[in-house]
Amino acid sequence: MSEIMQAINKIAADFTITPYQILDIAEKFRFAMERKLSGHPSPFKMLPSYLERPSGHERGVYLALDFGGTNVRIMLVELRGNGSYKILTHSSSPLKDPQGSYDYTSAQTTAEDLFLFLAERIGKVAVPGQSYILGHTFSFPSRQTDINNAELIHWTKEIKTAGMAGRNITDLLTGALAKLGLNHITPVAIINDTIGTLLTAAFQNDRADIGSICGTGLNTAYLEASPVSADGPMLINIESGNFAELPLTVFDAKLDAASELPGLGRLEKAGSGRYLGELLLMITTDLMPLGLLAGTPRRRFVTPVTLNGADIAAIIADHTPDMTATERWLAEHHDISGTTGDDRQALKAIASLIVRRSARMVAASYLGILRHIDPELSHPHHIAVDGSLYEKMPGYSAIIQDTLDEALGDKSARVTIGLTKNGSAVGAAIAAAISGK
Ligand code: BGC
Repeated sequence: MSEIMQAINKIAADFTITPYQILDIAEKFRFAMERKLSGHPSPFKMLPSYLERPSGHERGVYLALDFGGTNVRIMLVELRGNGSYKILTHSSSPLKDPQGSYDYTSAQTTAEDLFLFLAERIGKVAVPGQSYILGHTFSFPSRQTDINNAELIHWTKEIKTAGMAGRNITDLLTGALAKLGLNHITPVAIINDTIGTLLTAAFQNDRADIGSICGTGLNTAYLEASPVSADGPMLINIESGNFAELPLTVFDAKLDAASELPGLGRLEKAGSGRYLGELLLMITTDLMPLGLLAGTPRRRFVTPVTLNGADIAAIIADHTPDMTATERWLAEHHDISGTTGDDRQALKAIASLIVRRSARMVAASYLGILRHIDPELSHPHHIAVDGSLYEKMPGYSAIIQDTLDEALGDKSARVTIGLTKNGSAVGAAIAAAISGK
């Protein structure tokens, strides 16, 4: 066996999460949830949404603004009652121009610039002279005081837009809409994307009580039936990406140290789409002294971070002999040439390890939530998931399913899981309908 393959086998051992570790993570996850619910320090924020499950009978046409950190999506959604809806219009724009002409996620832009950009995109969808009710999905940890007011606690996903922490997000949006003369658009609800996904799934399916995002970020929300507070049953945004009691590696430590908020978001940094490419780069760079990628200019694989979740998906999906599809992909998308068949096989082996670990950690987090809400699994549950990683990464959803089956054994039929596409945006329309304004 080549030295490189030996090294990858060693890394594989560190990236493997055994069935025992899955149960251990699940238990620690449950414990951390319950610590926070009882007012003790915990990695979780357990943020209230001021929303319960929808009835499924919500009706009307609503504007949905979905802001997650990579793209801004605006949709006009018609809720038709009895669990059905239709997306009437859909527009999506990147927050960072691929050609480099703007970047609303950088430290050089301000909250005001960012919200003017969002308002301008909304204005392109809204017809002048017609009134609109808007629901806003804002996918960052935010402290909410009611269904329409929330302030950003801190950015995640390496976003750096200045002057946002502590600001009331709805005020920023309303101010930007007013500046552009878009007073016919009224924001009435603000939610996290995990809450949106859960709302959309619960709108259609009585069993849905967990909503999750596996995309650029990682996070999960659930229906807390018996909160310790007097608020009654409520959908709670765990901010589970901050979980840290995980079997992490030296690569995770390095990535964390170089990130915007070291020490925070350890589960997210180990598993979300924003960081998978970075992990792959770190591991490949470590193996370069053994001859990996020796024919490729080294700088191509180091800074700036060149690979993302889509690259990893392309590498993993490549079953061509000698992985020539990856050779073409790297040349076309990253101007990387000179890789050998062995290099590409090594990249695929590493990428598969990273992706598998991510899916298993996420599954363990779902098991932790299930242990909290229904330890005996006496009721059926549905976990609704949205996000690019779950939807597009080859094998990802199957690994989550297998991990759940492995842990739940003969009770696994009590838990179903599936994609709720556009859940984060459609949920904003449902929240707007519930807010009843
Ligand atoms: C944010 C969460 C969000 C998740 C998925 C994380 O970085 O903190 O609020 O739900 O990404 O978008």
